[in-house]
Amino acid sequence: MTERTLAIIKPDAVARRLTGTIIQRIEEAQFQIRAMRRVELTRKQAEGFYAVHRERPFFASLTSFMSSGPAIVMVLESADAIKKWRMLMGATDPAKADAGTLRKEFAESIERNATHGSDAPDTAAYEIGYFFPGIDLV
Ligand code: CMP
Repeated sequence: MTERTLAIIKPDAVARRLTGTIIQRIEEAQFQIRAMRRVELTRKQAEGFYAVHRERPFFASLTSFMSSGPAIVMVLESADAIKKWRMLMGATDPAKADAGTLRKEFAESIERNATHGSDAPDTAAYEIGYFFPGIDLV
């Protein structure tokens, strides 16, 4: 089933000039990039995006990091895009990520972990709408 997911190249990876490398890996994996923007999130925007994590102990640090510099947000499309993008990223904690995944290669820590991806269809719809309001979600 063709599906869409939200992908973010996070501020740590953009600052280290990994944007092109990560986009190349996305294209090699046969995703279609349906939309892409460079964003500089305010603290409030980062808090809204990660609202599901607001009770977590790392929320303040995470939203501070995510609003610390430019990031690239994208809508990726492919068969089974949500799972496929999560497989390409690897585990949230780079210490647990498989060899060959983006986070194994590029993440600095569990927080500064290079990329983000939606974890389910309902969160993908919320997250795509957060950055690309009005995009056709069907
Ligand atoms: P992401 O996939 O963007 O979803 C939530 C983010 O919170 C996650 O990647 C990490 O950047 C961060 N995160 C998750 N767990 C922890 C943790 N235990 N400590 C710090 N940050 C975390």
